[in-house]
Amino acid sequence: MSCMIEVRDVSKTFQDKDRTVQALNHINIRIEEGDIYGIIGMSGAGKSTLVRCLNFLEVPTEGSVIVDGQELGALSDRELRQIRGSIGMIFQSFNLLMQKTVLDNILFPLKIQGRGKAESLERARDLLKTVGLADKEKAYPSQLSGGQRQRVAIARAIASDPKILLCDEATSALDPQTTNSILQLLKKINQEMGITIVIITHQMSVVREICHNVAIVEHGSIVEDGSVEEIFTHPKSRAARELVFEGSETSETFAGRHAADRTMEELREKRRIRIVFTSNSSFEPVIGNMVLKFGTPVNILKADTKDVDGVARGEMILGLPDERELQEKMIDYLNARGLAVEEVN
Ligand SMILES: Nc1ncnc2c1ncn2[C@@H]1O[C@H](COP(=O)(O)OP(=O)(O)O)[C@@H](O)[C@H]1O
Ligand SMILES: [Mg+2]
Repeated sequence: MSCMIEVRDVSKTFQDKDRTVQALNHINIRIEEGDIYGIIGMSGAGKSTLVRCLNFLEVPTEGSVIVDGQELGALSDRELRQIRGSIGMIFQSFNLLMQKTVLDNILFPLKIQGRGKAESLERARDLLKTVGLADKEKAYPSQLSGGQRQRVAIARAIASDPKILLCDEATSALDPQTTNSILQLLKKINQEMGITIVIITHQMSVVREICHNVAIVEHGSIVEDGSVEEIFTHPKSRAARELVFEGSETSETFAGRHAADRTMEELREKRRIRIVFTSNSSFEPVIGNMVLKFGTPVNILKADTKDVDGVARGEMILGLPDERELQEKMIDYLNARGLAVEEVN
Protein backbone atom coordinates (compact mmCIF):
# COMPACT_ATOMS: atom_id res chain seq x y z
CA MET A 1 0.00 0.00 0.00
CA SER A 2 1.27 3.44 -0.76
CA CYS A 3 0.68 6.59 1.18
CA MET A 4 -1.77 8.98 -0.49
CA ILE A 5 -1.77 11.80 2.04
CA GLU A 6 0.86 12.52 4.63
CA VAL A 7 0.53 15.34 7.13
CA ARG A 8 3.84 16.05 8.83
CA ASP A 9 3.92 18.08 11.98
CA VAL A 10 1.33 20.56 10.73
CA SER A 11 0.34 23.51 12.88
CA LYS A 12 -2.01 26.33 11.98
CA THR A 13 -2.58 29.55 13.87
CA PHE A 14 -5.11 32.21 12.98
CA GLN A 15 -4.44 35.80 13.89
CA ASP A 16 -7.64 37.58 14.83
CA LYS A 17 -7.69 41.27 15.72
CA ASP A 18 -6.99 40.79 19.40
CA ARG A 19 -5.93 37.18 19.79
CA THR A 20 -4.16 34.23 18.26
CA VAL A 21 -6.10 31.01 17.72
CA GLN A 22 -4.06 27.84 17.52
CA ALA A 23 -6.40 25.71 15.39
CA LEU A 24 -3.94 22.87 14.74
CA ASN A 25 -1.08 21.80 16.94
CA HIS A 26 1.62 19.53 15.47
CA ILE A 27 -0.64 17.14 13.56
CA ASN A 28 0.74 13.96 12.00
CA ILE A 29 -1.35 11.59 9.91
CA ARG A 30 -0.84 9.09 7.12
CA ILE A 31 -3.67 8.08 4.84
CA GLU A 32 -3.06 5.09 2.59
CA GLU A 33 -4.23 4.89 -0.98
CA GLY A 34 -7.74 3.43 -1.22
CA ASP A 35 -8.54 4.01 2.44
CA ILE A 36 -11.68 5.51 3.92
CA TYR A 37 -10.18 7.59 6.69
CA GLY A 38 -12.21 9.34 9.36
CA ILE A 39 -11.30 12.52 11.20
CA ILE A 40 -13.63 12.89 14.14
CA GLY A 41 -13.95 15.47 16.87
CA MET A 42 -16.23 17.95 18.53
CA SER A 43 -17.21 21.25 17.01
CA GLY A 44 -14.27 23.66 17.04
CA ALA A 45 -11.69 20.86 17.34
CA GLY A 46 -9.97 21.91 14.13
CA LYS A 47 -11.35 19.34 11.67
CA SER A 48 -12.30 21.75 8.90
CA THR A 49 -8.99 23.56 9.22
CA LEU A 50 -7.18 20.24 8.96
CA VAL A 51 -9.12 19.09 5.90
CA ARG A 52 -8.54 22.47 4.21
CA CYS A 53 -4.83 22.02 4.83
CA LEU A 54 -4.98 18.78 2.83
CA ASN A 55 -5.51 20.71 -0.39
CA PHE A 56 -3.85 23.93 0.75
CA LEU A 57 -7.09 25.92 0.76
CA GLU A 58 -5.51 26.72 4.11
CA VAL A 59 -1.73 26.97 4.16
CA PRO A 60 -0.26 25.53 7.36
CA THR A 61 1.75 27.86 9.55
CA GLU A 62 4.24 25.03 10.11
CA GLY A 63 4.83 21.54 8.78
CA SER A 64 4.20 19.93 5.43
CA VAL A 65 1.47 18.14 3.53
CA ILE A 66 2.43 15.52 0.96
CA VAL A 67 -0.25 14.38 -1.47
CA ASP A 68 0.47 11.50 -3.81
CA GLY A 69 4.20 12.05 -3.36
CA GLN A 70 4.17 15.81 -3.91
CA GLU A 71 4.87 18.29 -1.15
CA LEU A 72 2.20 20.95 -1.57
CA GLY A 73 4.32 23.72 -0.06
CA ALA A 74 6.95 23.26 -2.74
CA LEU A 75 4.57 23.54 -5.71
CA SER A 76 4.04 26.50 -8.01
CA ASP A 77 0.52 27.96 -8.21
CA ARG A 78 -0.02 26.15 -11.46
CA GLU A 79 1.11 22.81 -10.04
CA LEU A 80 -1.03 23.38 -6.97
CA ARG A 81 -4.10 23.99 -9.13
CA GLN A 82 -3.33 20.81 -10.99
CA ILE A 83 -3.09 18.67 -7.86
CA ARG A 84 -6.25 20.28 -6.48
CA GLY A 85 -7.93 18.96 -9.61
CA SER A 86 -7.20 15.48 -8.27
CA ILE A 87 -8.85 16.25 -4.93
CA GLY A 88 -12.64 16.48 -4.90
CA MET A 89 -14.50 17.98 -1.97
CA ILE A 90 -18.04 17.92 -0.63
CA PHE A 91 -19.54 19.88 2.25
CA GLN A 92 -22.49 19.94 4.60
CA SER A 93 -24.05 22.75 2.57
CA PHE A 94 -23.70 21.01 -0.85
CA ASN A 95 -22.47 24.24 -2.54
CA LEU A 96 -24.33 23.60 -5.79
CA LEU A 97 -24.91 26.24 -8.44
CA MET A 98 -28.55 26.98 -7.76
CA GLN A 99 -29.24 28.67 -11.13
CA LYS A 100 -28.02 25.66 -13.07
CA THR A 101 -29.64 22.29 -13.69
CA VAL A 102 -28.32 19.12 -12.14
CA LEU A 103 -26.67 18.20 -15.45
CA ASP A 104 -25.02 21.61 -15.82
CA ASN A 105 -23.73 21.41 -12.26
CA ILE A 106 -21.88 18.25 -13.16
CA LEU A 107 -20.75 19.53 -16.56
CA PHE A 108 -19.20 22.58 -14.90
CA PRO A 109 -15.95 20.99 -13.65
CA LEU A 110 -15.62 19.07 -16.93
CA LYS A 111 -15.79 22.34 -18.89
CA ILE A 112 -13.14 23.83 -16.62
CA GLN A 113 -10.96 20.83 -17.38
CA GLY A 114 -11.41 21.61 -21.07
CA ARG A 115 -13.02 18.32 -22.01
CA GLY A 116 -15.00 18.02 -25.24
CA LYS A 117 -18.75 18.56 -25.21
CA ALA A 118 -19.91 15.13 -26.27
CA GLU A 119 -17.46 13.35 -24.01
CA SER A 120 -18.46 15.56 -21.07
CA LEU A 121 -22.14 14.93 -21.62
CA GLU A 122 -21.64 11.21 -21.71
CA ARG A 123 -19.53 11.31 -18.56
CA ALA A 124 -22.01 13.54 -16.71
CA ARG A 125 -24.87 11.16 -17.53
CA ASP A 126 -22.80 8.19 -16.40
CA LEU A 127 -22.10 9.95 -13.12
CA LEU A 128 -25.78 10.69 -12.62
CA LYS A 129 -26.44 7.00 -13.06
CA THR A 130 -23.71 6.16 -10.54
CA VAL A 131 -25.30 8.39 -7.91
CA GLY A 132 -28.82 7.18 -8.72
CA LEU A 133 -30.21 10.38 -10.23
CA ALA A 134 -30.42 9.52 -13.94
CA ASP A 135 -33.96 10.89 -14.09
CA LYS A 136 -33.10 14.25 -12.52
CA GLU A 137 -30.75 15.81 -15.04
CA LYS A 138 -33.10 18.66 -15.90
CA ALA A 139 -34.08 19.43 -12.31
CA TYR A 140 -32.74 22.42 -10.38
CA PRO A 141 -31.15 21.91 -6.96
CA SER A 142 -34.06 23.68 -5.28
CA GLN A 143 -36.34 20.89 -6.52
CA LEU A 144 -34.27 18.17 -4.84
CA SER A 145 -34.15 16.76 -1.32
CA GLY A 146 -31.04 17.17 0.82
CA GLY A 147 -29.89 13.65 0.06
CA GLN A 148 -30.38 14.16 -3.68
CA ARG A 149 -28.45 17.44 -3.55
CA GLN A 150 -25.58 15.71 -1.85
CA ARG A 151 -25.65 13.05 -4.58
CA VAL A 152 -25.31 15.79 -7.19
CA ALA A 153 -22.44 17.29 -5.19
CA ILE A 154 -20.75 13.89 -5.09
CA ALA A 155 -21.19 13.41 -8.84
CA ARG A 156 -19.70 16.86 -9.44
CA ALA A 157 -16.82 16.21 -7.05
CA ILE A 158 -15.82 12.97 -8.75
CA ALA A 159 -16.47 14.20 -12.32
CA SER A 160 -12.85 15.13 -12.88
CA ASP A 161 -11.61 11.68 -11.79
CA PRO A 162 -10.02 12.71 -8.51
CA LYS A 163 -7.77 10.40 -6.56
CA ILE A 164 -9.06 11.79 -3.30
CA LEU A 165 -12.48 12.85 -2.08
CA LEU A 166 -12.66 15.05 1.03
CA CYS A 167 -16.01 15.09 2.81
CA ASP A 168 -16.46 17.79 5.44
CA GLU A 169 -19.55 16.97 7.53
CA ALA A 170 -21.17 15.81 4.30
CA THR A 171 -23.99 13.99 6.08
CA SER A 172 -24.44 16.28 9.07
CA ALA A 173 -27.51 18.01 7.65
CA LEU A 174 -29.20 14.75 6.69
CA ASP A 175 -31.54 12.43 8.59
CA PRO A 176 -30.15 9.02 9.63
CA GLN A 177 -31.66 7.09 6.75
CA THR A 178 -30.43 9.52 4.11
CA THR A 179 -27.06 9.65 5.86
CA ASN A 180 -26.83 5.93 5.50
CA SER A 181 -27.66 5.95 1.80
CA ILE A 182 -25.01 8.61 1.18
CA LEU A 183 -22.45 6.58 3.14
CA GLN A 184 -23.29 3.51 1.05
CA LEU A 185 -22.74 5.58 -2.08
CA LEU A 186 -19.35 6.76 -0.79
CA LYS A 187 -18.43 3.15 -0.05
CA LYS A 188 -19.35 2.16 -3.59
CA ILE A 189 -17.28 5.01 -5.04
CA ASN A 190 -14.32 3.96 -2.89
CA GLN A 191 -14.59 0.34 -3.97
CA GLU A 192 -15.43 0.74 -7.63
CA MET A 193 -13.29 3.75 -8.46
CA GLY A 194 -10.52 3.28 -5.93
CA ILE A 195 -10.88 6.85 -4.70
CA THR A 196 -9.26 7.52 -1.31
CA ILE A 197 -11.91 9.11 0.92
CA VAL A 198 -11.43 11.35 3.94
CA ILE A 199 -14.52 11.73 6.10
CA ILE A 200 -14.73 14.63 8.53
CA THR A 201 -17.49 14.16 11.05
CA HIS A 202 -18.54 14.70 14.63
CA GLN A 203 -20.53 11.45 14.64
CA MET A 204 -19.00 8.13 15.65
CA SER A 205 -21.85 6.33 13.90
CA VAL A 206 -20.55 7.64 10.58
CA VAL A 207 -17.00 6.48 11.33
CA ARG A 208 -18.28 3.10 12.45
CA GLU A 209 -20.33 2.63 9.33
CA ILE A 210 -17.77 3.45 6.70
CA CYS A 211 -14.22 4.19 7.87
CA HIS A 212 -11.32 1.76 8.11
CA ASN A 213 -9.03 4.11 10.01
CA VAL A 214 -9.69 7.14 12.11
CA ALA A 215 -8.00 10.02 13.91
CA ILE A 216 -9.63 11.70 16.88
CA VAL A 217 -9.01 15.43 17.03
CA GLU A 218 -9.36 17.43 20.21
CA HIS A 219 -8.32 21.07 20.64
CA GLY A 220 -6.23 20.97 17.49
CA SER A 221 -4.32 17.80 18.39
CA ILE A 222 -4.74 14.15 17.53
CA VAL A 223 -5.40 12.36 20.77
CA GLU A 224 -5.70 8.90 19.24
CA ASP A 225 -5.56 7.26 15.83
CA GLY A 226 -5.57 3.80 14.34
CA SER A 227 -7.96 1.26 12.86
CA VAL A 228 -11.62 1.81 13.65
CA GLU A 229 -11.81 -1.73 14.93
CA GLU A 230 -8.93 -1.20 17.35
CA ILE A 231 -10.24 2.11 18.64
CA PHE A 232 -13.70 0.72 19.06
CA THR A 233 -12.39 -2.32 20.89
CA HIS A 234 -9.74 -0.61 23.01
CA PRO A 235 -10.39 3.11 23.22
CA LYS A 236 -7.47 4.64 25.10
CA SER A 237 -8.25 8.32 25.35
CA ARG A 238 -11.16 9.84 27.20
CA ALA A 239 -12.33 11.41 23.93
CA ALA A 240 -12.34 8.02 22.20
CA ARG A 241 -14.30 6.43 25.03
CA GLU A 242 -16.89 9.17 24.90
CA LEU A 243 -17.25 8.79 21.16
CA VAL A 244 -17.42 5.00 21.29
CA PHE A 245 -20.20 5.11 23.85
CA GLU A 246 -22.00 7.96 22.12
CA GLY A 247 -25.45 7.07 20.86
CA SER A 248 -25.10 3.45 21.81
CA GLU A 249 -28.35 1.56 21.74
CA THR A 250 -28.87 -0.87 24.52
CA SER A 251 -29.87 -4.19 23.09
CA GLU A 252 -33.13 -5.51 24.40
CA THR A 253 -32.18 -9.13 24.53
CA PHE A 254 -29.49 -8.53 27.09
CA ALA A 255 -30.41 -5.40 28.91
CA GLY A 256 -34.15 -5.87 29.03
CA ARG A 257 -33.61 -9.18 30.73
CA HIS A 258 -30.84 -8.31 33.10
CA ALA A 259 -30.41 -4.63 33.73
CA ALA A 260 -33.94 -3.27 33.92
CA ASP A 261 -34.18 -3.58 37.66
CA ARG A 262 -30.64 -2.60 38.59
CA THR A 263 -30.49 0.38 40.86
CA MET A 264 -27.83 3.06 40.53
CA GLU A 265 -26.67 2.08 43.99
CA GLU A 266 -25.87 -1.36 42.75
CA LEU A 267 -24.10 -0.02 39.68
CA ARG A 268 -21.84 2.04 41.89
CA GLU A 269 -20.71 -0.41 44.50
CA LYS A 270 -19.94 -3.48 42.43
CA ARG A 271 -16.69 -4.13 40.64
CA ARG A 272 -17.38 -3.75 36.98
CA ILE A 273 -15.56 -4.93 33.89
CA ARG A 274 -16.05 -4.21 30.24
CA ILE A 275 -15.54 -6.88 27.61
CA VAL A 276 -15.64 -6.56 23.87
CA PHE A 277 -16.44 -9.39 21.53
CA THR A 278 -16.56 -9.81 17.80
CA SER A 279 -19.88 -11.55 17.42
CA ASN A 280 -22.82 -12.49 19.60
CA SER A 281 -22.38 -16.15 18.91
CA SER A 282 -18.90 -16.32 20.40
CA PHE A 283 -20.01 -14.39 23.39
CA GLU A 284 -23.13 -15.57 25.12
CA PRO A 285 -21.93 -19.14 25.71
CA VAL A 286 -18.75 -17.86 27.36
CA ILE A 287 -20.69 -15.91 29.96
CA GLY A 288 -23.16 -18.71 30.41
CA ASN A 289 -20.43 -21.31 30.88
CA MET A 290 -18.57 -19.07 33.27
CA VAL A 291 -21.65 -18.70 35.46
CA LEU A 292 -22.11 -22.49 35.39
CA LYS A 293 -18.46 -23.15 36.17
CA PHE A 294 -18.23 -20.83 39.16
CA GLY A 295 -21.79 -21.38 40.31
CA THR A 296 -22.21 -17.65 40.89
CA PRO A 297 -24.21 -15.28 38.72
CA VAL A 298 -22.83 -12.10 37.20
CA ASN A 299 -24.89 -9.03 36.41
CA ILE A 300 -25.03 -7.91 32.84
CA LEU A 301 -25.32 -4.20 33.40
CA LYS A 302 -25.13 -3.06 29.84
CA ALA A 303 -24.92 -4.79 26.50
CA ASP A 304 -24.61 -3.19 23.11
CA THR A 305 -23.98 -4.47 19.68
CA LYS A 306 -22.74 -2.22 16.94
CA ASP A 307 -21.77 -2.56 13.37
CA VAL A 308 -18.14 -1.59 12.96
CA ASP A 309 -17.01 -1.36 9.37
CA GLY A 310 -19.47 -4.09 8.42
CA VAL A 311 -18.57 -6.44 11.27
CA ALA A 312 -20.80 -7.00 14.28
CA ARG A 313 -19.09 -5.95 17.50
CA GLY A 314 -20.45 -6.03 20.94
CA GLU A 315 -19.54 -4.89 24.36
CA MET A 316 -20.83 -5.83 27.76
CA ILE A 317 -20.41 -4.35 31.15
CA LEU A 318 -20.50 -7.05 33.79
CA GLY A 319 -20.96 -6.57 37.50
CA LEU A 320 -18.82 -9.21 39.23
CA PRO A 321 -19.63 -10.97 42.50
CA ASP A 322 -18.29 -9.32 45.67
CA GLU A 323 -15.71 -11.96 46.49
CA ARG A 324 -12.31 -10.73 45.36
CA GLU A 325 -10.80 -14.16 44.62
CA LEU A 326 -13.78 -15.11 42.50
CA GLN A 327 -13.50 -11.85 40.60
CA GLU A 328 -9.91 -12.63 39.65
CA LYS A 329 -10.80 -16.16 38.61
CA MET A 330 -13.58 -14.88 36.37
CA ILE A 331 -11.30 -12.32 34.76
CA ASP A 332 -8.71 -15.03 34.13
CA TYR A 333 -11.43 -17.23 32.66
CA LEU A 334 -12.49 -14.51 30.22
CA ASN A 335 -8.92 -13.63 29.31
CA ALA A 336 -8.18 -17.27 28.63
CA ARG A 337 -11.02 -17.27 26.10
CA GLY A 338 -9.54 -14.36 24.22
CA LEU A 339 -11.84 -11.66 25.51
CA ALA A 340 -10.24 -8.32 26.35
CA VAL A 341 -11.22 -7.37 29.87
CA GLU A 342 -11.05 -3.84 31.13
CA GLU A 343 -11.95 -2.35 34.51
CA VAL A 344 -14.76 0.21 34.42
CA ASN A 345 -14.93 2.86 37.09
N1 LIG B 1 -10.31 31.83 9.41
C1 LIG B 1 -10.27 31.73 10.75
N2 LIG B 1 -9.91 32.77 11.52
C2 LIG B 1 -9.85 32.66 12.86
N3 LIG B 1 -10.12 31.53 13.54
C3 LIG B 1 -10.50 30.45 12.84
C4 LIG B 1 -10.60 30.48 11.41
N4 LIG B 1 -10.99 29.26 10.98
C5 LIG B 1 -11.12 28.50 12.09
N5 LIG B 1 -10.83 29.22 13.20
C6 LIG B 1 -10.84 28.71 14.58
O1 LIG B 1 -10.08 27.52 14.63
C7 LIG B 1 -10.70 26.56 15.48
C8 LIG B 1 -11.01 25.29 14.71
O2 LIG B 1 -12.04 25.55 13.77
P1 LIG B 1 -12.55 24.47 12.72
O3 LIG B 1 -11.38 23.91 12.01
O4 LIG B 1 -13.60 25.09 11.90
O5 LIG B 1 -13.17 23.36 13.68
P2 LIG B 1 -14.21 22.17 13.38
O6 LIG B 1 -14.32 22.01 11.90
O7 LIG B 1 -13.64 20.99 14.07
O8 LIG B 1 -15.50 22.59 14.00
C9 LIG B 1 -11.92 27.25 16.07
O9 LIG B 1 -11.57 27.80 17.31
C10 LIG B 1 -12.22 28.33 15.06
O10 LIG B 1 -12.88 29.42 15.67
MG1 LIG C 1 -16.00 22.07 10.64
